[in-house]
Amino acid sequence: MFKKNLLWYLFPSYLIIIALSLSLTTWHATYDFRKFYFKKVETNQETIIKLYEDEFADKISANSLQKLDNISKNIAQKASIRITIITTDGKVISDSDEAASHMENHKNRPEIIQALAGKTSNATRYSKTLKQYMLYVASPLIDKGKIVGVIRTSVPINLLQHNLNTLYQKIFAAGLITSLIAILISYIFSRKIQKPLLVLEESALKFAEGDFSSKVPIHSIKEIGGLAEAMNIMASKLKQLENIRKDFVANVSHELKTPVTSIKGFIETLQEGALENREEAEHFLDIISRHTNRLNAIIEDLLALSRLEQTTNINEQRLEKSLLYPILKSAIQVCEVGAENKSIKINLECSQYIYAWLDTLLFEQAIVNLVDNAIKYSNENKEVAIVADITEKEVIINIIDQGSGIPKEHIPRIFERFYRVDKARSRKAGGTGLGLSIVKHILNSHKGHITVESEINQGSIFTIHLPKEL
Ligand SMILES: Nc1ncnc2c1ncn2[C@@H]1O[C@H](COP(=O)(O)OP(=O)(O)OP(=O)(O)O)[C@@H](O)[C@H]1O
Ligand SMILES: [Mg+2]
Repeated sequence: MFKKNLLWYLFPSYLIIIALSLSLTTWHATYDFRKFYFKKVETNQETIIKLYEDEFADKISANSLQKLDNISKNIAQKASIRITIITTDGKVISDSDEAASHMENHKNRPEIIQALAGKTSNATRYSKTLKQYMLYVASPLIDKGKIVGVIRTSVPINLLQHNLNTLYQKIFAAGLITSLIAILISYIFSRKIQKPLLVLEESALKFAEGDFSSKVPIHSIKEIGGLAEAMNIMASKLKQLENIRKDFVANVSHELKTPVTSIKGFIETLQEGALENREEAEHFLDIISRHTNRLNAIIEDLLALSRLEQTTNINEQRLEKSLLYPILKSAIQVCEVGAENKSIKINLECSQYIYAWLDTLLFEQAIVNLVDNAIKYSNENKEVAIVADITEKEVIINIIDQGSGIPKEHIPRIFERFYRVDKARSRKAGGTGLGLSIVKHILNSHKGHITVESEINQGSIFTIHLPKEL
């Protein structure tokens, strides 16, 4: 699959946000500014009109038209506006830009009509005289309460637009610089997010190659830091698994080697002449047979374990709601011979009506392993008890012995494959150290678990917890 760089996921969205917000604000700002600017030009013209209207009204009343014309042109030049003075019948008597005598009657111009009616008014329209669009403001000239004429100021729209355009260019340039800076910053930010992810990728690849030596650095972004922590935990779990696997191979080889070496030794002795002595030969064959049985037992257990490991996940549908009592009873029967050999009594305390979700064959195997241990690690004439009970959520089965007990520091490890507290003693008793790891696997597939309490030389209690309902 074509893979896009993270940068190309983050960056375009930043760009769109920047472009959108900038263009929206500038569009809004320029629109508002244009309105404000036109209004300002209008009020400026109104102010100029107010300043001179009395003087102009006086001049008209006094018929000092030449003076009026001079003053008007002077103001117009200074304020960069056009000023037109019109009499009440519409005749232009002064204009700052054109010869008044050439201009047509202004009676019908909309702003003049309004002014003659006594109102200050404005208009934006095409000027026939100047042949361009103009912004007009017109106001009546009043002398002793009578309208004697109209003063009208105007500015070409072109000029205003030109001024605005200069401003727009500046805004555009500023916007461009702002976007460039924003783009740069968002690029840096995108890189900042991208970088730790690249580090994670690199570490994950290292883990995949089996190199767990370096830890993933924890990044300050919470999500990325969390991922890094999770990866570190995963790495240490993998390392642990790898070690367990190595230990397991070493253990299996060792366990198999001991009986094989003995068998080989006795066969050689037989070949070297011991066969001649029938009594001796039979004794050696006995030993060989015992070691062979032991090899067989180990291999059986290993096979059982690997079967269990493979089926743990698909086991659920094999669990059936079953009565507990008959299964415990049958497990005890299996262990009876061993118990009698040591004059150990096995007591069972279990209601006939306790049900549990069980794979009956496997579960019986687990109980047998536990009872077998209880007998194996107890002295003669002791007792072993199996006590079953139900609580609100669990079915509980205790296997209690009065045996050797297990030192505290060993308890967490006894469920590991091949782990034995006292190797010599366990081996003499025929143990391979696989029994409890099989128990653990069986309980896993029952969604249950096992806990241990033990007191040295007092005995041990192994407690099975099974869920009442799945
Ligand atoms: N009831 C018990 N009392 C004292 N120690 C025990 C008891 N059960 C288990 N242990 C200790 O835990 C170790 C592991 O037990 P586990 O059943 O896995 O192996 P094993 O009995 O040695 O061999 P296997 O069961 O495979 O024949 C034993 O070697 C023993 O040291
Ligand atoms: Mg055992």
